[in-house]
Amino acid sequence: MSTQVNRKIVLVARPHGDPKPSDFEIQKEEVPTPGEGQVLVRNTLVSMDPFNRILMGNANSDQAPIELGDTMFGFTVAVVEQSNHPGFAAGDRVTGFLGTTGWQDFALSDGSDIRLVDPEAVPLTSYLGALGVTGLTAWVGLTKVLNPKPGGTLVVTAAAGAVGSAAAQIGKLRGYRVVGIAGGPEKTRHLLENLGVDAAVDYKADDFEQKLALALPDGIDTIYENVGASQFPILLPHVNLGAQIAVGGVMSQITTTGAFEGPNTLPDVLRAIFYKDLTVRGFNVTKFYDFYPEFLAELTPAVADGRLLSTTHVIEGLENIPTSFPDMFTGRVAGKMIAKIA
Ligand SMILES: NC(=O)c1ccc[n+]([C@@H]2O[C@H](COP(=O)([O-])OP(=O)(O)OC[C@H]3O[C@@H](n4cnc5c(N)ncnc54)[C@H](OP(=O)(O)O)[C@@H]3O)[C@@H](O)[C@H]2O)c1
Repeated sequence: MSTQVNRKIVLVARPHGDPKPSDFEIQKEEVPTPGEGQVLVRNTLVSMDPFNRILMGNANSDQAPIELGDTMFGFTVAVVEQSNHPGFAAGDRVTGFLGTTGWQDFALSDGSDIRLVDPEAVPLTSYLGALGVTGLTAWVGLTKVLNPKPGGTLVVTAAAGAVGSAAAQIGKLRGYRVVGIAGGPEKTRHLLENLGVDAAVDYKADDFEQKLALALPDGIDTIYENVGASQFPILLPHVNLGAQIAVGGVMSQITTTGAFEGPNTLPDVLRAIFYKDLTVRGFNVTKFYDFYPEFLAELTPAVADGRLLSTTHVIEGLENIPTSFPDMFTGRVAGKMIAKIA
């Protein structure tokens, strides 16, 4: 055991806008003892997600926040320290797939919120990335929320992000021509060289609209939308009749409250939906957890043999989460943000 105390990151202030290190406090407590039917797990990898900011409150969301003083929600990969549960033994590797194991060293489980994982099959970080809720979100958006015609052109926004990089690669595996949109030349290079997209366009570049047009000679059949911002209306002139759009997230709006700056593009969006006969559907991945086995069966082999890269941005140490998490809202992070804590 690396430590005999449990360090847990609790919410002590609700941010306005971007999260700050002072919104969190690291508290220490005794490591809990598992009771009858319980498992004590030690977290080794902790997932950082935009959802964490939503749960902090004052976010542009219908989601109820956690209480001040609560331990931060977080998906984790963990090792079983002690088990009084027939399904788990000390030394087993598990994933805390419901977020209840949290941003802390140790957690108690009744077995319903942890699942055994095979540390030999794929890198353990992938259980938070491409094979975690992140990858499930991308896969669900492309296979269950929409019923798109494979082989057409798929555009993914925030394509170098955690969900976006999974969506772009799943798109390739499913036979689309994939165009990724991301901020900055490093990210577009990464999309082309490492993730194998067909074209990548930098929305921060002055020639974004011209480059986008060149990348879309046959228009757009499917959009996987992560951002919810000004890039979206710019895509609309390229959208083909009957195109399908999954709105998997509105990253740019999470920390923005009040009136939005910029032109009102709602009439353009509605006109395109009407005249182009578009299907637009948002979704919450938690309603699709029953598909986890099907998702893992399809994508675990692809992660194992390298066809699906689970790209990561790893920070070291639980104590560094409060200072690192705000980076998620700056564009400085590419791939799945994970803290290695043991
Ligand atoms: N539907 C669901 O149930 C579900 C589940 C999980 C996640 N989500 C949502 O999916 C979206 C993507 O999640 P993720 O974990 O993959 O995050 P992520 O994409 O890794 O988030 C960070 C990236 O978002 C991009 N971004 C674009 N506009 C931004 C802005 N105005 N402010 C900050 N970042 C901006 C940035 O990339 P660039 O540098 O390229 O701009 C940034 O690096 C989020 O909206 C999240 O809430 C939804």
